[in-house]
Amino acid sequence: MMKDLLLIGIGPGDPRQVTYEAVDAMRRASVFFVLDKGQGKDELVQLRKAILARYRPEGGYRLVQVADPRREAGALDYVAAVRQWHRQRAALYARLLDDQLAAGEVGAFLLWGEPGLYDSTLRILDLVRQGGASLRLEVIPGISSVQALAARHQVPLNRIGEPLTVLPGRRLAGHGRIDNVAVMLDGQCAFAELDDPGLVIYWGAYLGTADEVLITGPLPTVKARILQVRERERRRKGWIMDSYLLRRELK
Ligand SMILES: C[S@@+](CC[C@H](N)C(=O)[O-])C[C@H]1O[C@@H](n2cnc3c(N)ncnc32)[C@H](O)[C@@H]1O
Repeated sequence: MMKDLLLIGIGPGDPRQVTYEAVDAMRRASVFFVLDKGQGKDELVQLRKAILARYRPEGGYRLVQVADPRREAGALDYVAAVRQWHRQRAALYARLLDDQLAAGEVGAFLLWGEPGLYDSTLRILDLVRQGGASLRLEVIPGISSVQALAARHQVPLNRIGEPLTVLPGRRLAGHGRIDNVAVMLDGQCAFAELDDPGLVIYWGAYLGTADEVLITGPLPTVKARILQVRERERRRKGWIMDSYLLRRELK
């Protein structure tokens, strides 16, 4: 049986950064799947619930909340560990769709930021399809945290004619010369290991939420302050999501 699924990008946290297309999609859905990542991140589940309360105030939908399998931390082969984690999640999603989405119902995932940027849901649903499920997908783009970061700092993402590289923190050290790089998923603060007086950093945490923090300046000057504020906020809230742009100063 064909199942209809909406993958809805909801932006980086501010309900006002949800697009009209996303709101339309939310109004069509009858079942919302919310994966709880644990690690104190239930606030992210609450933010999704707040978005639903705002755009579906009349209710009339089901919320299916499940614990997301945990990825093996510190695995030697990162890619193999992620693939294994994706297979576990695919098995979970397949079961959820079988058990929780009836004929004629429309299911939805509310995905943080932009569904196409460092989000594995599309890849996992490919695995679900390979396992035999028939899925009709619709993907609704969202505002990425990288866009929100640039807007908050009032800087363009690229300079004239220059490329922009977007990478996860664990790839920063091996990147070579940095001219214009956006970094996400950096739990290890890779920027702190850089010793390059020519770089400016535009850092932002909890973008779009009430706890938003922004720091910018020459990397050598503000590095210590970012580390201190980041640690303080991470302890206070129990979790953190931050991104940054690193840019070489033009002489
Ligand atoms: C799994 S990725 C998801 C990215 C998301 N698809 C997007 O387009 O923003 C999670 C990473 O996105 C970044 N991120 C997401 N939301 C953020 C926010 N509100 N403030 C700062 N960074 C955020 C962080 O770098 C975090 O580690």
